[in-house]
Amino acid sequence: MNSYVNMGVGALLGTVFVLMTVSITSEGIFHAEVPEKEGYAIVAEAASEGEAGADTAAAAETPIATLLASADAAAGEAVFKKCVSCHTADKGGANKVGPNLFGIVERPVASHEGFGYSAPMTEFSQGGAVTWTYDNLSHFLAAPKKFIPGTAMGFAGLKKEDERANLIAYLRTLADTPVALPAADAAAAPAEAAPAPADAAATEAAPAAPAADAAPAEAAPAPAATDAAPATDAAPAPAANN
Ligand code: HEC
Repeated sequence: MNSYVNMGVGALLGTVFVLMTVSITSEGIFHAEVPEKEGYAIVAEAASEGEAGADTAAAAETPIATLLASADAAAGEAVFKKCVSCHTADKGGANKVGPNLFGIVERPVASHEGFGYSAPMTEFSQGGAVTWTYDNLSHFLAAPKKFIPGTAMGFAGLKKEDERANLIAYLRTLADTPVALPAADAAAAPAEAAPAPADAAATEAAPAAPAADAAPAEAAPAPAATDAAPATDAAPAPAANN
């Protein structure tokens, strides 16, 4: 009996001894430093002055209306070289990787015949209610994938404001009747005046378009609306296109 107890105790002690040895040894091998503070330290150093400045500049971007006032269409033609691998821009030009861009300003989004647009682009068009206003073009060309997530346009974007403005000024000229430039001091105005250029797209009203040059300025008192929203309001006009 006694010897059984002794054996039992011995076995137990033996086990404990082995366990402790393993524990101590592994502690030695896999020693984990306990950090003074729990959790990961996420070092988010303030961006260097230069970067921060650039970010801020991007956030407070100059309205395209203002930029277009001093844009240079001829310089924009050179910028358009970045687009020609995928786009033609002549009247009746073929669709390539991207759709033909003739008359793109104020053209309803995702509306070019014979081109298979991506689902996100089609969705963005809201059935043709949304047009390529100067604002929309500027935002899209600055960062296509940011403005229309999932777009099939594989182009990084034109970050430089002046380049973008010059390009858009050039795109504007690629039309039977270029859409009136927006009033520089009222970015919202062109959107309000949208119904007129939309009509002009029907070519008939062409002579009226140059007169519209003055129109946006008069529409200026309504600068409350800013973004793409007013374009949605213009829904009835493009509907007539179908
Ligand atoms: C790598 C090819 C590629 C390049 C480069 C490219 N695009 Fe595109 N672009 C496309 C494709 C593809 C689409 C259709 C996108 C979709 O359906 O999502 C498109 C669509 C567009 C649209 C919308 C057209 C519509 O009918 O709604 C505009 C505007 C446009 N591109 C302008 C430009 C301009 C300006 C440049 C040059 C700065 C440019 N793209 C460079 C491929 C390209």
